[in-house]
Amino acid sequence: MATYIILLGPPGAGKGTQAELISEKLGLVHVSSGDLFRENRKMKTELGQLAQSYMNRGELVPDDVTIAMVKERLSRPDCVKGALLDGFPRTPAQADALATMLGDLSGRVNSVPYISVPSEVLIERLSGRWTCRAEGHVYHSKYNPPKTAGKCDIEGSELYQREDDTPATVENRIRVYFAQTSPLIEYYRQRGLLAEIDGMRPIDQVAVDLLAAIEKSR
Ligand code: AP5
Repeated sequence: MATYIILLGPPGAGKGTQAELISEKLGLVHVSSGDLFRENRKMKTELGQLAQSYMNRGELVPDDVTIAMVKERLSRPDCVKGALLDGFPRTPAQADALATMLGDLSGRVNSVPYISVPSEVLIERLSGRWTCRAEGHVYHSKYNPPKTAGKCDIEGSELYQREDDTPATVENRIRVYFAQTSPLIEYYRQRGLLAEIDGMRPIDQVAVDLLAAIEKSR
C-alpha cells in the first residue's frame, strides 16, 4: 500500500527544509503545494496567476483549486509508492479530500509529524530565509548560511527572498495558519496519526526526530 506522510506546521517551522533532508531516506517524492503554485506562477499559467493574488496577501488559495492541483500531482507515476506532503492539506476540507483521493489510489496516511515552533521565532526564520532560484534549496542567513553569500551551495545559482516573506504578509500567513490550518492538529490527533516534533532543535536533530517518529508509525 502506498505511504503518505504529511508534514504539518506553521509557516517557517521548517517543513521544506526537513522534506529536502528526509524524502530520499524515506524513498518518497516531496510534494509541496507552495512549490506547485510557485512553478505555475513562474510558467504564467492560469492557475499560477490566480494563486498569485492569494499568495501575495498571505491568504489560502481556494480549496477546490488546490485540491485539483494536488490530485493531479499525486496521480503521476513518481508518486506510485506515495509521497511526503508539505503544505497540503491546510484545511479540514482539504484533509477530507485527501482521504478520498488516497482511497482511490489505494494509499493511506501513515503519520502526521507536527513541527512546533513558537510564533515569535517564525518571523525571524522567514525574514532571514534565502531560497535557491534554480531548485528551491533553502538557507537562513543566521541558522543555515550558504558557504558563499547569495549563492546556493548545491546549484551555484542566485539566492532570493520570497515575495511573501515581507513582515506584513508573514504576520497574515501566521494568522491564517492559526485560523484555518491549526484545527488539523486535532483532526489528525483524533485519528491517532499525530507525532509532535520540537522544531526548536537544530536542523539535523529535527531530521533525526522526524525519521524516528515516522519509523515508529510504520
Ligand atoms: P508554502 O510555500 O507552503 O509556505 P508555508 O507553509 O507558509 O511554509 P514555508 O515554506 O514558508 O515554511 P517552511 O515550514 O517550509 O519553512 P522552511 O523549511 O522554508 O505556501 C505559500 C503560500 O502558497 C501560502 O501562503 C498560500 O497562499 C499558498 N498555499 C500553499 N499551499 C496551500 C494549500 N494547501 N491551500 C491553500 N493555499 C496554499 O524554513 C524557514 C526558514 O527557517 C529557513 O530559512 C530555514 O533555513 C530555517 N530553519 C528551518 N529549520 C530550522 C531550525 N530547526 N532551526 C533554525 N532555522 C531553521
